[in-house]
Amino acid sequence: MHTLVFATNNPHKAREVEQILGGQFQVKTLRDIGCLEEIEETESTLEGNALLKARYVKEKYGFDCFSEDTGLEVEVLNGAPGVHTARYAGASRDPDANIALLLANLEGKENRRARFRTSIALIFDGKETLLEGICEGRIATQKSGTGGFGYDPVFIPDGYGQTFAELGEDVKNKISHRAKAMFKFVNYVIH
Ligand code: IMP
Repeated sequence: MHTLVFATNNPHKAREVEQILGGQFQVKTLRDIGCLEEIEETESTLEGNALLKARYVKEKYGFDCFSEDTGLEVEVLNGAPGVHTARYAGASRDPDANIALLLANLEGKENRRARFRTSIALIFDGKETLLEGICEGRIATQKSGTGGFGYDPVFIPDGYGQTFAELGEDVKNKISHRAKAMFKFVNYVIH
């Protein structure tokens, strides 16, 4: 089985990706290859940050690898928090504080359209490729549900009346931004 390194130490993301790939690849995380240092996301776009992480692993550790960066883009906030999604409410990356700030910034706003956008950078057989997955939806007025992570308790994907956190991982991993980007990834790597 082909081994790919997923340049993340986020256990939620690693679990989602493993479920989406359904055992077709052996996936190792940064910890598995002994990369314990923090790779700073210093670029100004999701694509730039995804590439930066994948190149770092390829150059320093020599593995074929992929990395992803995800942002929440809210229409009425002109695409914010976007590349700043993780640190929206400050350096501590606290999901509760991030959600509280988002809800405060949307208070009284009728337009709650938002989308998650994932950029995956893949370095495979000596080539670099970028793949994108988008999930359109809206921001709820309050938190609901206990599943998922990050902004899942306030994100309602189009076609559903519940948040990702309420819908659970089986539904989320079929329709999410990350799932869509990973489906492209599987096609790319297999064909
Ligand atoms: P990063 O891609 O690890 O930099 O994450 C960016 C931010 O988006 C973090 O605050 C994550 O919690 C959040 N995030 C990434 N993916 C998801 C998701 O699938 N659902 C909810 N929040 C997410």
